[in-house]
Amino acid sequence: MKIFIDSGDTNEIREAQSMGLVDGVTTNPSLTAKTGKPFKQLILEICEIVDGPISAEVVSLKADEMIKEGKDIASWHKNIIVKVPLIPEGLKAVREFTAMGIKTNVTLCFNANQALLAAKAGATYVSPFVGRLDDIGSDGMQLIRDIRQIFDNYAIETQILTASARTPIHFMEAAKIGSDVITAPWSVLQAIIKHPLTDSGLKKFLEDWEKSKK
Ligand code: E4P
Repeated sequence: MKIFIDSGDTNEIREAQSMGLVDGVTTNPSLTAKTGKPFKQLILEICEIVDGPISAEVVSLKADEMIKEGKDIASWHKNIIVKVPLIPEGLKAVREFTAMGIKTNVTLCFNANQALLAAKAGATYVSPFVGRLDDIGSDGMQLIRDIRQIFDNYAIETQILTASARTPIHFMEAAKIGSDVITAPWSVLQAIIKHPLTDSGLKKFLEDWEKSKK
């Protein structure tokens, strides 16, 4: 499973990258707005840090405007993936991007039918939001299982990008199910590295080592 970091914070992206954790980056308008940096400058800074797919989202709502915006965004760097919302106009835009050879990440996917439609439009990635489904009492990870089954039934090549991951359990379940990619915030990536027994075991080793020197 590939690991993307879901962030616009270049410090945390750099830190995660230095640990060899990160295969790519996803951003969204909320994350990029939070940085206060101009959008293009931020995306290009991220492209300098991580040599992998970097999702940058369009904010237009009409297909022709999304296409114009997405073509511009895609021209900034070879690794940019144009992120498009899963709405009818978005699917029209994805079809065009696919025909132009521009890679896409179809975002805000909340059911398996939507995922199938994104794949039919030629999406490179589809992003089901598991955490936001859990928030409303649905089972986010069941959606990943359903999409995996459907995509495998038809040998669909669109990659499942588990998004809105909030916990280490989301992470482990996504890997068990066979999600192609997971994107998670830095806090979740840090949480999967840590284990209290690793910390207490290391503390004990170092104490014993110090004692043996006396
Ligand atoms: C994915 O691409 C989205 O940016 C992200 O995972 C949304 O996560 P959230 O539901 O925690 O905001």
